[in-house]
Amino acid sequence: MSTAGRWIDVAAVADLPDGDVVGRVADGREVALYRLGDEVFATDATCTHGNASLCGGFVEPDGSIECPLHQGRFDIRTGKALCEPLERDLAVHAVRLEGGRVWIAIRAASGA
Ligand code: FES
Repeated sequence: MSTAGRWIDVAAVADLPDGDVVGRVADGREVALYRLGDEVFATDATCTHGNASLCGGFVEPDGSIECPLHQGRFDIRTGKALCEPLERDLAVHAVRLEGGRVWIAIRAASGA
């Protein structure tokens, strides 16, 4: 049974280094967690251009994540594809911080 839309505990806030990306699996889906100062964001972990994990990418000072394979960049907050070769935005998931834990609500896959 899918847990899409339900809150899932995925990490301790303290496990997320500031300005970096960490991978987790939630509801069978690989997600990337990003900590930018006091805020935490979550997106799908797989680049929309190819089969590369953004968890091996680089968080840029402007709040974007650079794919390690072809250097496409996404806005971490919105998932918007910012440059070539990217043509599709990245799915972002809602994040809630509670009791030092990171909870995310997985966005249903398109067509689900
Ligand atoms: Fe990410 Fe090509 S696989 S930019």
